[in-house]
Amino acid sequence: MRRLLVTSALPYANGPIHLGHMLEHIQTDVWVRFQRLRGNEVLHVCADDTHGTATMMRARQEGRSEEELIAATNSAHQADFAGFDVRFDHYGSTNSPFNRALCNEIWAALRAGGYVVEREVSRLFDPQEGVFLADRFVKGTCPRCGTADQNGDNCENCGSTYAATELKDPVSTLSGARPVLKSSSQYFVQIERLHDFLTRWTQESGRLQSEVANYVKGHFLGEPLRDWDVSRPAPYFGFEIPDAPGHYFYVWFDAPIGYMAATAEYCDKTGASFDHYWRSPDVEIVHFIGKDIVYFHTLFWPAMLQAAGFPLPARVHVHGFLTVNGEKMSKSRGTFLLASKYLEHLDPGYFRYYLASKLGSGIEDLDMNLDEFSARVNSDLVGKVVNLASRSARFVETTGLSERYPDDDGLFAKAAAAGDEIAKAYEACDYARAMRSIMQLADRANEYVDRKEPWKLAKAPDSAAELRDVCSVILNLYRQLAIYLAPVLPRVAESSAALLGAPFKAWDETKVPATGSKVGKFTHLVARVDPKKVAAMVAAHVPPEESVGAGGAPAGGPARARVTQSAEVAGTAAVDTARLRDTLSDAASDDAAALAAEPLAPECSIEDFSKLDLRVARVVAAESVPEAKKLLKLRLSLGAGNERTVFAGIKSAYAPESLVGRLVVMVANLAPRTMKFGVSEGMVIAAGPGEKDIFILSPDSGAKPGQRVH
Ligand code: 2FM
Ligand code: ZN
Repeated sequence: MRRLLVTSALPYANGPIHLGHMLEHIQTDVWVRFQRLRGNEVLHVCADDTHGTATMMRARQEGRSEEELIAATNSAHQADFAGFDVRFDHYGSTNSPFNRALCNEIWAALRAGGYVVEREVSRLFDPQEGVFLADRFVKGTCPRCGTADQNGDNCENCGSTYAATELKDPVSTLSGARPVLKSSSQYFVQIERLHDFLTRWTQESGRLQSEVANYVKGHFLGEPLRDWDVSRPAPYFGFEIPDAPGHYFYVWFDAPIGYMAATAEYCDKTGASFDHYWRSPDVEIVHFIGKDIVYFHTLFWPAMLQAAGFPLPARVHVHGFLTVNGEKMSKSRGTFLLASKYLEHLDPGYFRYYLASKLGSGIEDLDMNLDEFSARVNSDLVGKVVNLASRSARFVETTGLSERYPDDDGLFAKAAAAGDEIAKAYEACDYARAMRSIMQLADRANEYVDRKEPWKLAKAPDSAAELRDVCSVILNLYRQLAIYLAPVLPRVAESSAALLGAPFKAWDETKVPATGSKVGKFTHLVARVDPKKVAAMVAAHVPPEESVGAGGAPAGGPARARVTQSAEVAGTAAVDTARLRDTLSDAASDDAAALAAEPLAPECSIEDFSKLDLRVARVVAAESVPEAKKLLKLRLSLGAGNERTVFAGIKSAYAPESLVGRLVVMVANLAPRTMKFGVSEGMVIAAGPGEKDIFILSPDSGAKPGQRVH
């Protein structure tokens, strides 16, 4: 039995939970439920991430204390998670005495280890609000390309990163005032001293997904690690640093310690031992996070734990972002669907299943296409899975299951054997693969139902025994599927267990058929998704009025100006077929123009085509070739350690860092070409005439590096 401590990233307390958060929390919850079903000991904790300027400003704006604000959001967050069947052993808050004590302990260890240095730093200060400004509260003109209205740390136009102090014409998004430079003393942790340790730790197999390990190595570990600025001067909502009055721990210092504090709160509540988790070599700490916070969880956090002598995470699993109908659910653009609004209209099980059916083990974004959402849930859950029970249960309501498991042409045994592969897929967080295998089993079970036609047997004379046997087979096949799906669909598992008379306790129950048991009255297990309700959910989605007026307020504090944009996105997301037709006809005339601009090449044979070996590849590193106007140098992985260098003429359309992690299609058997800057070992496939109009092709989610494109 493994002892697991599992967490999701702590949601910010200054905004509501949206479906982007839910992606992560459901991913974690499914993994936790799966591990429990396998018999492992799991502690699942989370908390609200409460500190920082955003909370302070929002509380100020609303005329209440930070404590009142975070208490209210904590209850709302917990209700949202519970509504989506995300079950925690404890959901706490980083603003707790336990967290303060742990922060102080880790700080003391960093001090004792000589990791802390103090330096004077000039920072942007909002003279009107009287606060120092975090990067995300500053906007201005990009110092590199001159585009106006860019964020405090990076430019959306040219992709460059910079310090907020470099912005031209900076403006505080809190007050609109022009910030001034003000110096303050700050405390830094010298994580460079742990560079070798971090290189070893991040590159150890199984700890990070390979693309994440490569990203960290390529982006950060290739050069000395910069000192980490962990303090903020007053005023700041957070914990005052014990030996530095007037200075507070930066929110990203105390947030991950919140993982420990949530455990401590759980232990305080239940009498369990904190040391059993955080001072034991036998614990496997597993963090689920989004790809935007890899830096904190793979460099700072392990550095802090290592320096303070705590156990290190066994695994950090990273996922991509949720997009809705192809639009990014961006924190800074505020295009998000709220969890609470979803729950007013739709069953949480739909979203859990839909996510699982699309969520692979990689870091690609996951698109919630609302038409596909209804279609997939209806075809898989209603059409394939629940259909098995609805077409058989009522015929054995009075007799119960056959006393001896009947002959079924090996179907039960095959589905039992498939359990190991399905379990491997869950373990690897490749839920899409698990769902595909489960649906293949459902297809076979449905073929059996179609062959045996129990409804006809029910009418035929002298077929009672056969009917009971046939329905016993079908319900046993259904029971296997319901157990395999239980981590994703706990409610369906519960009602199915009630129908079949015994709770599902362990994964391996799929290996032994149920015989002789009673069958309860069949009630609807999953209703069809009504597309009208999906449309109503989208239309009713009103972005929160209570948002802080901060650019890029993290995890759901969008600026008021963005409300319109968000409403527009919600409108387009509605299932409006007339509008879709208009869009398609506009698209059709664009398409004709593209074809005219570049007529078709002469016909070729299938043999000609098959000479090209096109492969899915992952970009593991990308950099600009400074001497070349058009070229980016890409490092592409075809899986299993097979990597290629490719020079691609796409600089005008892509910032190198935007490519890292994504999948592309490459010509893998192109003869290597020696160029001025090195050898190019292939070609990346892209469409478009060039300059800004270059469009790299991506496979649908689920494709793996190395797969051939036919
Ligand atoms: O990015 C975020 O939403 C942060 N609140 C996550 C914190 S995770 C952990 F370190 F606490
Ligand atoms: Zn720029």
